[in-house]
Amino acid sequence: MIEPYGGALQDLLVTPERAAQIHADSLDWPSWDLSYRQVGALELLLTGALSPLTGYMCRADYESVCSSMRLAGGVLWPLPVTLDLPEEIACQLQPGQMLALRDPEGFMLAALHVEEVWQPDLVAEANAVSGGEEPGWAAAARLSPRGHGWYVGGGVEGVTLPPHHDFTDLRRTPAELREHFASKGCERIIAFQTAAPLHQATHDVLTHAVRKYAAALLISPIEGVAGPGDLGHFTNGRCHRAVWPRFQALEAICAMVPSFGSTGGLRLTLLQAIVARNQGCTHFLERGGFFHADVDSRELVDRYFQELGVTLVSYPPVDYREELSTFPEVAAELARSYPARHEQGLAIFFTGLSGAGKSTVASVLVSLFLEQGERPVTLLDGDLVRKYLSSELGFSKEDRDTNIRRIGFVASEITKNGGIAVCAPIAPYDAVRKEVRELIAPRAGFILVHISTPLSECELRDRKGLYAKARAGVIQGFTGISDPYEEPEDAEITLDTTDLSPLEAAREVLEYLTEEGYIKLA
Ligand code: ADX
Repeated sequence: MIEPYGGALQDLLVTPERAAQIHADSLDWPSWDLSYRQVGALELLLTGALSPLTGYMCRADYESVCSSMRLAGGVLWPLPVTLDLPEEIACQLQPGQMLALRDPEGFMLAALHVEEVWQPDLVAEANAVSGGEEPGWAAAARLSPRGHGWYVGGGVEGVTLPPHHDFTDLRRTPAELREHFASKGCERIIAFQTAAPLHQATHDVLTHAVRKYAAALLISPIEGVAGPGDLGHFTNGRCHRAVWPRFQALEAICAMVPSFGSTGGLRLTLLQAIVARNQGCTHFLERGGFFHADVDSRELVDRYFQELGVTLVSYPPVDYREELSTFPEVAAELARSYPARHEQGLAIFFTGLSGAGKSTVASVLVSLFLEQGERPVTLLDGDLVRKYLSSELGFSKEDRDTNIRRIGFVASEITKNGGIAVCAPIAPYDAVRKEVRELIAPRAGFILVHISTPLSECELRDRKGLYAKARAGVIQGFTGISDPYEEPEDAEITLDTTDLSPLEAAREVLEYLTEEGYIKLA
């Protein structure tokens, strides 16, 4: 069996006695709640997937890796493995101190022996690491997703692996995999890491490679970094599980690996190859597109792989036809996760001046949905929300934004679960309307309906007598009179109710939804 990179697997988990000691001592330590992305990197460290690393890089290793792809001691290493912290915490830390590393729920995963704290040049790092393939700031933003800007290096003692409650049958540590391969007597093992479902063409490629090299196969679905509730992660896992019986004819095993969440390209591929070697693999299969011929010559790539002790097996890149030729069980999983528009959740977000007709049109629309027997419907009317959800809020810009964010949060919970949320606040500010759209649109339909009835008409109607009070100065900061209303430029539907009955207006919305496939009339 091939040795781990650097000769030994660095399993950083401590004994139960030492873990108990760390728990007891940690009462006086500062602590840091890792992001999901940081948890993924820590998991790779703790299991030995990043051997020979035994912690987060200090400055000399970090700078050497950025500039020449080598640790300070000369070992080939493609990407920085660093812990990124905000200034408030980083500046409290002194070399020799301990830092408790916790998961986002506050559960302690590891103890860091702080050796060095410094402020890196993230733009220079991004330029070095992404090889100038994208603007530095974009790469910097991704490498440092919360933009903390301070690095802390030092050795790590693992208290426990990050707990996983999903796909437990698809998770195996490098040590477990090595044991498995040893028990089966596998000499050659091909690693294939992918963030995508396995389509028929991928299956054919893998089968071909396994036969050609008379090798066993390790398939590693790369886990998403968005955290629990990340649909892509669950879809991908389910697709892998569904297709797994097709690999039974081969000597194949599956092990999810956390995403390193980096810039792609040669450096990332080399890091994946190091992980593969630590898992016991001798070959690394890649499907084109990783390397850019003008940047990384094949000769250079081969030389790096040789140095890592892993054989690179290349196949042509994935193409779009592949997704059309997928297995029925994979297609079924994808269809389950990405249903047709009329089976997804839907938010209809009305915006407009007070008295423009939002509430009336919204409530007629809800009646039409109910009459149709459509998906479950919830009405989040402005006045009702103010009564039950936002009763302590006033009408300052801040309070209005908070109110809209709350409505957006509730609507996103409803739509995530396939329901229809009809919202009808004034929502005078564009930025927060867009924020709500961004929250909802990735998983459900989002339709902005601007009820554009002009101020003169709203004031003429003055159903609540509020415009008169606003004009008289009894109410301050009233939208349209003494407070702004930013007209949306991104509304899907604009309706002026001056000459339109509420039923006609609601029918127009319904017509749009039908045409766009959001609802299917019986
Ligand atoms: S929003 O700005 O936060 O979207 P929302 O729709 O919840 O407002 O509440 C608007 C309702 O509150 C109006 O229809 C009106 O009845 C009442 N109201 C009270 N004071 C104001 C004000 N200063 N500006 C606008 N509406 C107000």
